[in-house]
Amino acid sequence: MSLLHAGFTLLLLLLLSGQSLGASHSFTVDYQHDCFRKDGEKFRYISGSIHYNRIPRVYWKDRLLKMYMAGLNAIETYIPWNYHEESPGQYNFRGEKDVEYFLRLAQDIGLLVILRPGPYICGEWDMGGLPARLLRKKNIVLRTTDPDYIAAVHEWMGKLLPMIKPYLYHNGGPIITVQVENEYGSYFACDYNYLRNLTKLFRFHLGEEVVLFTTDGASVRNLKCGSIQNLYATVDFGPGGNVTAAFEAQRHAEPHGPLVNSEFYSGWLDHWGSHHSTVPSAVVAKSLNEILAIGANVNIYMFIGGTNFGYWNGANEAYSPQPTSYDYDAPLSEAGDLTEKYFAIREVIKMYRKIPQGPIPPTTPKYAYGAVVMKPLQTISDALEVLSFSGPVKSMYPLTFIELNQAFGYVLYRTTLPVNCSKPTPLSSPLNGVHDRAYVSVDGVALGILERNKVIAINVTGKAGSQLDIVVENMGRINYGKNINDFKGLVSTLYLGSAQLTGWTMYSLSVDKAVSQGLLGENRPKQRDPPQPAALSPPTFYRGSFIIPDGIPDLPQDTYIKLPNWRKGQVWINGFNLGRYWPARGPQVTLFVPANILSTAAPNNLTVLELEGAPCNSGPCTVELTATPILNATVQSNYKQHRRLYVKEDLSW
Ligand SMILES: *[C@@H]1O[C@H](CO)[C@@H](O)[C@H](O)[C@H]1NC(C)=O
Ligand SMILES: *[C@@H]1O[C@H](CO)[C@@H](O)[C@H](O)[C@H]1NC(C)=O
Ligand SMILES: *[C@@H]1O[C@H](CO)[C@@H](O)[C@H](O)[C@H]1NC(C)=O
Ligand SMILES: *[C@@H]1O[C@H](CO)[C@@H](O)[C@H](O)[C@H]1NC(C)=O
Ligand SMILES: *[C@@H]1O[C@H](CO)[C@@H](O)[C@H](O)[C@H]1NC(C)=O
Ligand SMILES: *[C@@H]1O[C@H](CO)[C@@H](O)[C@H](O)[C@H]1NC(C)=O
Repeated sequence: MSLLHAGFTLLLLLLLSGQSLGASHSFTVDYQHDCFRKDGEKFRYISGSIHYNRIPRVYWKDRLLKMYMAGLNAIETYIPWNYHEESPGQYNFRGEKDVEYFLRLAQDIGLLVILRPGPYICGEWDMGGLPARLLRKKNIVLRTTDPDYIAAVHEWMGKLLPMIKPYLYHNGGPIITVQVENEYGSYFACDYNYLRNLTKLFRFHLGEEVVLFTTDGASVRNLKCGSIQNLYATVDFGPGGNVTAAFEAQRHAEPHGPLVNSEFYSGWLDHWGSHHSTVPSAVVAKSLNEILAIGANVNIYMFIGGTNFGYWNGANEAYSPQPTSYDYDAPLSEAGDLTEKYFAIREVIKMYRKIPQGPIPPTTPKYAYGAVVMKPLQTISDALEVLSFSGPVKSMYPLTFIELNQAFGYVLYRTTLPVNCSKPTPLSSPLNGVHDRAYVSVDGVALGILERNKVIAINVTGKAGSQLDIVVENMGRINYGKNINDFKGLVSTLYLGSAQLTGWTMYSLSVDKAVSQGLLGENRPKQRDPPQPAALSPPTFYRGSFIIPDGIPDLPQDTYIKLPNWRKGQVWINGFNLGRYWPARGPQVTLFVPANILSTAAPNNLTVLELEGAPCNSGPCTVELTATPILNATVQSNYKQHRRLYVKEDLSW
């Protein structure tokens, strides 16, 4: 080996070891100059939120590229615990849940990552990301040093954080900062030992070098219980307010260091039964400009909202669930389309940062596959053999979902009428214990619907001994506020007149399994079926199929499903659970159908579980695949809208 060669090898070794020791990769808070430093240089991030769990994996790259082309230098994502821990101790990080692949994609594209691994995330996600199984301990105090809660958190973080560690910036990855908890100052518990405990836990797994931070609503009151020493305190606030005043709240907790708005709201969330939220681009652009002008760091929440597929939506209080779409009126639509807001934001960023040249990935085309004729299958009560693999559980008083070992979906509660109800007799839940909606039938005849906070009594008629079937839907767990320990099912017993109903038989329903395995049979008309009142039918499955036309290039393409005159339910294509539909309440009317679930090789199977009544008796029994979304159908709103400033406090009405 020549001297020169040896010297070169030594230099190479030094360089390599320098890399792995992090000498050339560093990300720090500079308290003296009120900024972040990346590799020693002054650095400011302009970031956008994208939740991989709300976007099909095949589209991750497209959405990230669009974000990069908007001029962002970072993205932000949550990691929802309950999305990955599918059953106690069983973790899934594969396929659609491959968060490591998502991080690598972001890095390949040139985006840094702000990671928010919870354990609590809020995020309009079921139970704020906490697994429902925590509720097996009935009196657990979530988000505190409750020993069972802490033990579960330590177990989860012991799995997650070591996986994340190689992706930290100083280890050669894209992650520049990691958030601990989320908006803890808005939670009633104010348990500093909990935050300290989490800090120790995060440090233990991730090391001393990474910047750990907290996020709270921009008010001194929120920061009081949300921030502690050794976690960098940041704030969140939306457009339209006084930016200077908002950052003064952060300065109260962090007299020095970079200004950071961790959630700058580009739009806002929706609830079933309220108007679709929109925020004008000009308002967003103006506030963004003010934030950037004072040199602050910002994360735009959301940059793309995406979809609450399946049962993943959360709810606010007083109980009010969010719809399937999480479009958020964000700069990229639910389907990843470029919007006017995207370009308005890009124009603002352009004034502060050189933005990438070259073509922006275009909006993906949508295809209207047309009407699909649906045929009735069995009702839930008729299909128990294929829906309830484990068979029924009996108990004097009703059990909750979690006591039945079920987290999501639907449970059938069955008992008999103890007395003759020849006159209309109230079936009631005086303690408001129907969580969240109950579809009531007697001897197969639908008689009414009970709904949490809205309808606590209906009248029933029937003979003593008649079968009372109550299908209870979990509409999504509360994700914000003090009642995130949101039990589902009949959480208190029902009364018939003044008599408590007892002697329950409960069926856990594996609806998704039965749908994806094609186990549901056709409806056999029965002699004993009395004529159904036109207004309401018991929860019933329907099936139809459609083929992707030949000879049109680039099919399959994305589409939207619309269910005209259907009422409320759940819809699947080829076994993929697209989410809940509820056009009768709105504002969402169409559901996003990503092309990746469609097949050109076989007819596509569409299954609907209609809970209230399909249009099939009185009109065309069809659903429609259209090219245009409708998220803003006017509804009679029950809720006072008072959110001029778009802050989380306004979520409790
Ligand atoms: C965290 O809390 C658990 C349960 O209360 C306790 O056992 C553990 O010692 C705590 N750890 C730290 C570092 O405070
Ligand atoms: C914004 O807040 C700052 C600091 O509280 C205050 O000085 C300023 O007057 C406010 N601006 C407006 C337009 O209200
Ligand atoms: C219900 O009414 C029927 C007659 O319609 C009667 O035979 C029966 O004993 C009654 N049952 C109860 C529990 O009152
Ligand atoms: C039940 O029926 C009674 C008597 O017909 C009626 O007064 C009452 O308003 C009804 N209650 C409900 C909840 O429909
Ligand atoms: C739809 O169901 C039919 C009948 O079970 C099956 O042959 C077909 O492969 C299914 N289509 C898809 C795309 O899975
Ligand atoms: C819904 O949105 C569409 C497209 O943005 C708009 O044209 C329409 O006027 C809106 N409808 C309502 C009722 O707000």
